[in-house]
Amino acid sequence: MVKITLAAALLGASVLGVASAQSAAGAAPLSHYLWPLPKSVVDAGQAVSVSGFWLDFSSSNAQLENVVMSAYNRFDKSAKIKKAYGGDGPTVPVKVAIQKKVQAVPAELPGIDESYTLAVTPKKVTITAATQAGAVYALQTLSQLITKDGKLRTGTITDAPRFSYRGLMLDTARNFFPVEDIKRIIDGLAYSKLNVLHWHIYDSQSFPIKWDKYPQLLNAAYKDASGKPKVYTKQDVQSIIKYAFERNVRVIPEFETPGHNAVFGHVDPSFTLDWNHSPWDGNNAEYSNTTLPGETGPVIWWGRHHCNQPPCGQLNVQNPKAMAFLDELITEIGSWFADPVVHVGHDEVNLRGYGLAPDNWDVVPQDLIHPLMREFEPKLLNILKKNKKTWASWDESLTDFGIADIVPKDGIITQWRAADAPVNALAAAGFQNIVIANSDYYYLDCSPSARWCSSDFERTVPADKYDLPGYATFSGQWHNWTKIYNFDPLADVLPQYHGNVRGGFGALWSETIKRNNLDRFAFPRVSVIGETLWSYGSVKYSEAVTPLRLERFRASLVNELNIDAATLDYLGNKEPTIYRPEICDGEGTTAPFQKTNECCFPGEPLTGGDGGPLLPPAYYEAPTDYCRIAGSYDTDAIVHNNPSPVPYPL
Ligand SMILES: *[C@@H]1O[C@H](CO)[C@@H](O)[C@H](O)[C@H]1NC(C)=O
Ligand SMILES: *[C@@H]1O[C@H](CO)[C@@H](O)[C@H](O)[C@H]1NC(C)=O
Repeated sequence: MVKITLAAALLGASVLGVASAQSAAGAAPLSHYLWPLPKSVVDAGQAVSVSGFWLDFSSSNAQLENVVMSAYNRFDKSAKIKKAYGGDGPTVPVKVAIQKKVQAVPAELPGIDESYTLAVTPKKVTITAATQAGAVYALQTLSQLITKDGKLRTGTITDAPRFSYRGLMLDTARNFFPVEDIKRIIDGLAYSKLNVLHWHIYDSQSFPIKWDKYPQLLNAAYKDASGKPKVYTKQDVQSIIKYAFERNVRVIPEFETPGHNAVFGHVDPSFTLDWNHSPWDGNNAEYSNTTLPGETGPVIWWGRHHCNQPPCGQLNVQNPKAMAFLDELITEIGSWFADPVVHVGHDEVNLRGYGLAPDNWDVVPQDLIHPLMREFEPKLLNILKKNKKTWASWDESLTDFGIADIVPKDGIITQWRAADAPVNALAAAGFQNIVIANSDYYYLDCSPSARWCSSDFERTVPADKYDLPGYATFSGQWHNWTKIYNFDPLADVLPQYHGNVRGGFGALWSETIKRNNLDRFAFPRVSVIGETLWSYGSVKYSEAVTPLRLERFRASLVNELNIDAATLDYLGNKEPTIYRPEICDGEGTTAPFQKTNECCFPGEPLTGGDGGPLLPPAYYEAPTDYCRIAGSYDTDAIVHNNPSPVPYPL
């Protein structure tokens, strides 16, 4: 039983409440205050003065109580609510009733009932929710009902999401973000009623996890100015999971494999094939074998590359020791995570990296990799099964690996390549849990400096602009918020397959993102994705209303959560510099992945897949200088900006 009174005594409250209630006639409709738009909003047309709220909630479940209490405490402590307490009205009880008995533990979050009703009158607030998740959302919605003058708007809101899976993928390998940044991002996700953090925790560039058993992996972590590795400890991970859980956010780890696995070479070089191999890149087939603006000479054809970004390195899936290591990784580090789902990556596996074709073949037939993957995948599935984890992967597993008949149909498929892996085809193949991260809309990293969004971000800056700040060459790459808003994830999906789509997520790869632009790359655009996944279908873009509503929501992100959210006119084009992965930090041309005359690694000649010389015809003036641009900053000196408060428009 919890009953706390946080504000003044109730004496005379109802009388005062009625007396000070003003009609909100002429004021904005209640729905203008809300983001994402609830399913149903009935405006009772009043704006009342309050002098406090108090939680009136009891349950027989201590875990449940803790979750609701901590959500209430956040609500009650927010500066916006405190401002409302200045009113001369009543202290209003917030009565919370939870209908279903569910265990309030992170593992119960998948598929949890998130519905709620919120009835606000001048005398009381009544929250009815199926589970604690809905109760937490109801408190967030309640906080949006406070006007800029500190009045409480009245009405009844009935709400439930359109999709059950709504998230953000955050990459902590290309650049590292400390726990406080991740928690701040989680705050913003929760405010946006997003419920998944897909944590792309490591990649070929770094392994930011402190795993005591393998101290060698610290060599694959970035170091701070004092030489201390930038890593997440078990305690860090678990405090992030707890923090996220209290905000109804699942944390799904990605244990990327078998591509993007260069870091494992630090444990044992035999774990990693093609480790540090050159050349790399070739993300852009259209640029392959052509000459780029500002470059001379031909470039390396896509088929000649050993990975998309340096350092190259793929898991040696035929090495039993490497497989045992993968088992330990998923078993031990995987046990730090409470969610039943483990995402296993499976994107961008390089066929040349597995030595599957002579080096002078420009194109390697995709099916050459099928036997290898059909041998690998059952072993991986056994590792997951042993750990009671369920499988999720990027869409390449179904289009490129030849394992669609092996993997579970109820596994999560994160679809990023709408053209290569259309939802209709994935659903027709029987996959029931497709989540959409269509890179044309939901990739949040695509910046104006990048013609495409990742590895070749530097090649698009004209040669004469190298090392100059402030260039904005390919503004079309920035997926602006209206473009995101107008994308309906079900638009191209046949009606019979709508049920196979569980939601979607924004993907924030971090090649060009450091601590001080993280927030504005993520927000408010991921909140816009949030509305498309929570309520889209009932809402359509309106020039008169949508920007106003989003502007108000953005003010909440800035003022209440200290999130340095971008202004709505931000098109990714106001950055003082274009960043690069921290692995590139170093002195000028000696940075580890700086282009050299030989291409790629200083002093290393190009070699073929077998380690021998690159066979003719060799076009090996690579355009790709992974680290070249924006050479003059110190990653360690880059910190989060505390944004200045912005006025609430309503
Ligand atoms: C790439 O360019 C070279 C030299 O012009 C040419 O011989 C080769 O056929 C081209 N390869 C592809 C795949 O277009
Ligand atoms: C946002 O993107 C859409 C679609 O690409 C485009 O039509 C629109 O002009 C863009 N808005 C701004 C302000 O650049």
